[in-house]
Amino acid sequence: MAVTEAGCDLTYCKMRGIVAVLTAFIKERKMGLNDFIQKLAATPHICQQPSVSVWLQGLFLLLVFQMYLSPRSSLAEDTQIKPCDFDYLKIIGKGSFGKVLLARHRETTRYYAVKVLQKKIILKKKEQKHIMAERSVLMKNVQHPFLVGLHYSFQTTDKLYFVLDYVNGGEVTQGPVLCGGDRQDLKPENILLDSQGHIVLTDFGLCKEGLEPNGTTSTFCGTPEYLAPEVLQKQAYDRTVDWWCLGSVLYEMLYGLPPFYSRNTAEMYNNILHKAPVLKPNVSNAGRELLEGLLQKERCSRLGAKDDFLELKHHSFFSPINWDDLMAKKLAPPFVPSVSGPTDLRHFDPEFTHLPVSASLCSDSAAVTGSVREAAGAFPGFSYGPPSDHAFM
Ligand SMILES: *[C@@H]1O[C@H](CO)[C@@H](O)[C@H](O)[C@H]1NC(C)=O
Ligand SMILES: *[C@@H]1O[C@H](CO)[C@@H](O)[C@H](O)[C@H]1NC(C)=O
Repeated sequence: MAVTEAGCDLTYCKMRGIVAVLTAFIKERKMGLNDFIQKLAATPHICQQPSVSVWLQGLFLLLVFQMYLSPRSSLAEDTQIKPCDFDYLKIIGKGSFGKVLLARHRETTRYYAVKVLQKKIILKKKEQKHIMAERSVLMKNVQHPFLVGLHYSFQTTDKLYFVLDYVNGGEVTQGPVLCGGDRQDLKPENILLDSQGHIVLTDFGLCKEGLEPNGTTSTFCGTPEYLAPEVLQKQAYDRTVDWWCLGSVLYEMLYGLPPFYSRNTAEMYNNILHKAPVLKPNVSNAGRELLEGLLQKERCSRLGAKDDFLELKHHSFFSPINWDDLMAKKLAPPFVPSVSGPTDLRHFDPEFTHLPVSASLCSDSAAVTGSVREAAGAFPGFSYGPPSDHAFM
């Protein structure tokens, strides 16, 4: 058996490396799969040793995929999750497709935000694709520290359910934030605070997935105030559109209104296309310089066009930030929302929380188990979570 510099049995070293990486991965559960594979590839004991047998690598990858795909909560032991597994306590949000409810899992007493969408309305508005995109964006980002995590998705004959992390610290209104991942529709309402004051990005309803760094697409995505010039002009756009969007949100956080804002939408669009952003001096030089870079109308000269996220990370505006600590949630949040516990709903709009919770959320449970697959018709592959429900690899 070959011997390494360290003087120990090669196989043992490799196994130890594998176990260490695996343990760290299981412990953290917050790394994306790509990051994980990259880290794996950079771990000398594992991948740079040609003698690691192919089957061992295969087995290992299989294990990793299985862990990555399996839900992270203890609900995992359930064979099939269904609407009646939850008590629906309050409505915390409402939109055209359905509602978001604070719910408690009966068995574990854990709190979740359950988003319930009406299939009929989605079909009528031809939004199936967006809903499926939302689901897969949520699934991909299941481990990111600053993205709302999807624990389960399931469906009944007439409704779709997303079981999400519950956060009740309210919306972000102040302070600089940065995109946590790609493709979310970044706007202040979608940046929430958890009870410790860490940000959580949510709502992936109308997003384009999976743009490669050089890829372009021309599908509409976004809120009017934050639309980039190339999107308004229906030109092809790429990832740099996110940096524009970030610039717009950051501008609003620093100055109180979106850049180029006008009540008259036509005028606002004209401003977006042709006017320079107004940068009053009550924001630091670094801040104004950052906004100027992000709000470049020409996407090729926009900050982030060359080196993507790295360009921002190294900008002087962020020089006080230790990014590793930030990702590990070791930085003390500048604002800690006051919440007394999970059922403290003071940061939600009373317009929602005062609404009565419909009993029908759990009424057609008898139909659930048998009908999941036929009803899947319009939303095939929507259900996610219970390991038995996975068509695994
Ligand atoms: C993306 O573009 C850069 C330069 O613009 C180039 O160096 C790189 O190879 C491209 N990557 C891909 C995947 O095409
Ligand atoms: C800058 O001034 C505007 C009013 O002109 C105010 O709304 C905004 O909060 C100020 N921003 C900062 C960072 O002080």
